[in-house]
Amino acid sequence: MTAARIDPRPIGVFDSGVGGLTVLSELRRRLPGESTLYLGDNARTPYGPRPGDEVRRFTAACVEWLLAADVKLLLIACNTATAQALPEVRDLSDVPVVGVVRPGALAAAAATRSGHVGVVATAGTVASGAYPAAIMKADPRLAVTQQACPDLVPLVEAGDLDGPRARDAVDGYLDRLLATDPAIDTLLLGCTHYPLLRPLLEARVGPGVAVVDSAFTTSLAVEDLLDALGVRASSGDSATNRIVTTGDVDAFSTVAERVFGAELPSVESVSVEPAPEPASVDAG
Ligand code: DGL
Repeated sequence: MTAARIDPRPIGVFDSGVGGLTVLSELRRRLPGESTLYLGDNARTPYGPRPGDEVRRFTAACVEWLLAADVKLLLIACNTATAQALPEVRDLSDVPVVGVVRPGALAAAAATRSGHVGVVATAGTVASGAYPAAIMKADPRLAVTQQACPDLVPLVEAGDLDGPRARDAVDGYLDRLLATDPAIDTLLLGCTHYPLLRPLLEARVGPGVAVVDSAFTTSLAVEDLLDALGVRASSGDSATNRIVTTGDVDAFSTVAERVFGAELPSVESVSVEPAPEPASVDAG
């Protein structure tokens, strides 16, 4: 029998901003022995409305930054980046990569009883079709209806998690979704920012609809992968948890405190420079 290697290097976690903290929090709860390095690209958030090429360019720069920091596994804790850039990230990476779309799809497929799943996500994730494809791959009998919610990420990034503007926005999007398919009994939060709005989302759909996200199933996927590769860290005693942002540290920390409370590690500022936009070719 081969002995498991002890690999103390951190797990790299990436999101466009604060949303991936909802996944990081679950990962730390499940794997307290592992060190983590979280990078939020707040300087360029939101990714949701951006063209796919731009999402891939920004994601690549952040992934290169995390790989240069010697992470042992990459967790793309951003649905938009997973939906639009996962193959490119896997090409770039010499360490295993886990995204959040498949784990989220499995959580929704396991939860539904009516067979009707609603997905709320960014415009980019909805346009990619990644969730309907992943949910129907899990169970082809399921019906999936999507609703893009472009106003929600800017509200979360601004720290408005429960004010009247956030409530109106949530109610408007969910009203549209439920009008399209009233048989929905499972609402999948297809953006890692949205669990921060969970009380508003749950209040609008009521107790008859299960609200699920990808945090729990993604942390399970990471645990399974570490075990399969035999690269768990040895114990929690020396685990370090570092959080960095390309944006404003104070704004980031204000929202991050809502997720981690007093356990929030100090937040550092870093600069990540995406490759320049390719020059457009003048066909003239
Ligand atoms: N939290 C991200 C997601 O899961 C990105 C949101 C955004 O930057 O628009 O899609």
